[in-house]
Amino acid sequence: MGQRTVNISVMVSGGGSNLQALIDGAADGRLAGARIALVLSSRDGVRALERARLAGIPTAVVSKADHPDETEKAGAILAALAGKKTDLVVMAGYMSILDKRVCAAYAGRMINIHPALLPKYGGVGYYGLRVHQAVLEAGEPETGATVHYVDGKSVDSGEIILQGRVPVADGDTPESLQARVLEAEHRIIVEATAAVVRKLLSR
Ligand code: GRF
Repeated sequence: MGQRTVNISVMVSGGGSNLQALIDGAADGRLAGARIALVLSSRDGVRALERARLAGIPTAVVSKADHPDETEKAGAILAALAGKKTDLVVMAGYMSILDKRVCAAYAGRMINIHPALLPKYGGVGYYGLRVHQAVLEAGEPETGATVHYVDGKSVDSGEIILQGRVPVADGDTPESLQARVLEAEHRIIVEATAAVVRKLLSR
């Protein structure tokens, strides 16, 4: 890659607990060879931005409200990512559908986390508690989380990098399941990001 540090930009929309896992992983050496160069949010005022500021990481907000035109919004996202010399984009709870131009610009260098065992319970409409509700309604014995490359073909599609399995317990509610899946997310998002960082550094 001609450089020793991979610049990661993390895209967020909300609480940012997965971002926090990455911040912690960067601090304790699990993300060796990388640094978080930017946290880009689709919404202002979210906890994820606060977490970034506390960690001293630069932030940017590119919202639909400020950028109603999709092409212009994609341009603003690309400019923010390029401005921090982004090598790898990690979508960690980013709740907006990314324009194909952004996906194409970072092909092979953009990953996403989804709170289910893809290809099950992925795609349009499967987000937040809806995913866990659907898992419970189907009577699944287990669920989990998936980190995958973003290929831009459709929502939640792309080569799977890592999955974490979570058993469904008697009496689980969508909320209790969400909490346990989130713990698995925090583990695999760091492991998968570290694996992609190593891959980029070996190029
Ligand atoms: C996670 O469940 C993630 O998989 C999903 O949105 C949630 C974000 O949680 N896409 P957080 O903002 O990282 O706490």
